[in-house]
Amino acid sequence: LNRQYLVKGKLLTGDEGSEVYSPVKIKENGHIKQVKLGEYPRLNAEKAAFCLKAALDAYKGGTGAWASMKVEERIRCWADFLDRVRDLREDFALLAMWEIAKPYSACLDEFDRTMRYIEDTMATLWELDRESGRIISIENFMAQIRRTPLGVVLCMGPFNYPLNETFAMLVPALIMGNSVIVKPPRYGALCLSLFMPAFAQCFPEGVINFINGEGEEVVGPIIKSGEISVLGFIGSTQVARLIINQHPHPNRLRTILGLEAKNPALVLKDADLEKAAGECARGALEFNGQRCTALKHIWVEEDIAEPFLELLCARVEEMKCGMPWEEDVVITPLPEKNKIEWLGELVEDALQKGARIINRDGGKSFAQLYYPTILYPVTRDMKLYHVEQFGPVIPVSSFKDISELKEYLFTSDYGQQASIFSSRAESAIPLIDILVHQVSRVNLNSQCRRGPDELPFTGRKDSAEGTLSVYDALRAFSIRSLVVANEN
Ligand code: G3H
Repeated sequence: LNRQYLVKGKLLTGDEGSEVYSPVKIKENGHIKQVKLGEYPRLNAEKAAFCLKAALDAYKGGTGAWASMKVEERIRCWADFLDRVRDLREDFALLAMWEIAKPYSACLDEFDRTMRYIEDTMATLWELDRESGRIISIENFMAQIRRTPLGVVLCMGPFNYPLNETFAMLVPALIMGNSVIVKPPRYGALCLSLFMPAFAQCFPEGVINFINGEGEEVVGPIIKSGEISVLGFIGSTQVARLIINQHPHPNRLRTILGLEAKNPALVLKDADLEKAAGECARGALEFNGQRCTALKHIWVEEDIAEPFLELLCARVEEMKCGMPWEEDVVITPLPEKNKIEWLGELVEDALQKGARIINRDGGKSFAQLYYPTILYPVTRDMKLYHVEQFGPVIPVSSFKDISELKEYLFTSDYGQQASIFSSRAESAIPLIDILVHQVSRVNLNSQCRRGPDELPFTGRKDSAEGTLSVYDALRAFSIRSLVVANEN
């Protein structure tokens, strides 16, 4: 895998590489040691241009062999791909576990979910394809609808789901007939690259390319060329903006974006507190809270704040912190550089402005581990109230009146999801009616999540653009073109 990338159907080796070290350190002869996992290629502007040309040549303005291929033939390539990659299950899980410190069982789940996603996409495409070629007659017009690809798609997935979320864009983009360039995330680049040989074997040259390197060095030249038709990006809002702003005609760039979120849990006084505490703890802390769908602020009704916080602390304190291969582990080392310092700054800011850490070991860190930290009460003047922490820190605020929640929701930059914990429809429904206008999914008595993958996944404000899901993504990466005849 060392320094390999995929362009024009060939696996090539980069001249320069960036070393990849695991966030998990090991002890050897009494010394703490870093584990080197390999190198990803550090490609340059020239290689980026070569990659872009390969994708454009394969697409040929929609007349390329892949774009004009019958849907059943494209599906056959994916079926072949599935046959070849199924055996990678354990290899992927092991490498991902070391590379991003995700619990091993969650890495296996990520692989299985991705395989299912491919199968479901293949099945759903049949449904969508039925409308292609259909002729409709309206007034004096006869119109033929053709579902067509959009061009060259640049796909950039995040480190927390390097395989699943990259494939959530790559699979629909490619199967609809687009040509694709994948820029793997910095953390997770190696485990995603495990799939390159199968792509080289199963797909025509140039329709799927992988380019690694530093964002400015490879993404910059590709996007500045103005030749990219779609950007599929999941990650930080700021990076998405930086990329889009480099396109010479941003209005010509379709964007399918999964960005930051600040999903609140609203715990009402009639909630089953045991259940609410368990869901909130898991929802905020699974994979260290490094999920865009994680609960990132808990709001609890003042009357029940004390018993709820006691239960929340108990659930958080029983969570296992350790190494990703340990059974039932929840908190593992954080892969991102400087993340611990940044979380520390958010916590310090909240402490200085009057919040307290209320759980055992909160605020502590060891090597790349940051222990779960519950802060209460978190108020509007604290940074943690506004920014996405994407880590194991849980801000909690209490409220007396719905107007306090409204202020939080209406002024937030984000609008992905929310959870309501309540046992009475009379209390939940007025809140649901407010929330459906502020977020794109309201979860009742459970944490926020993306799946099942058949459900639309999107968000409001700075949280998303476009919609992903098995069905929605096929539509997002294609367009309906019409051929119209006027009978007059
Ligand atoms: O990081 C964002 C992901 O879309 C979260 O997905 O809810 O399935 O963990 P998930």
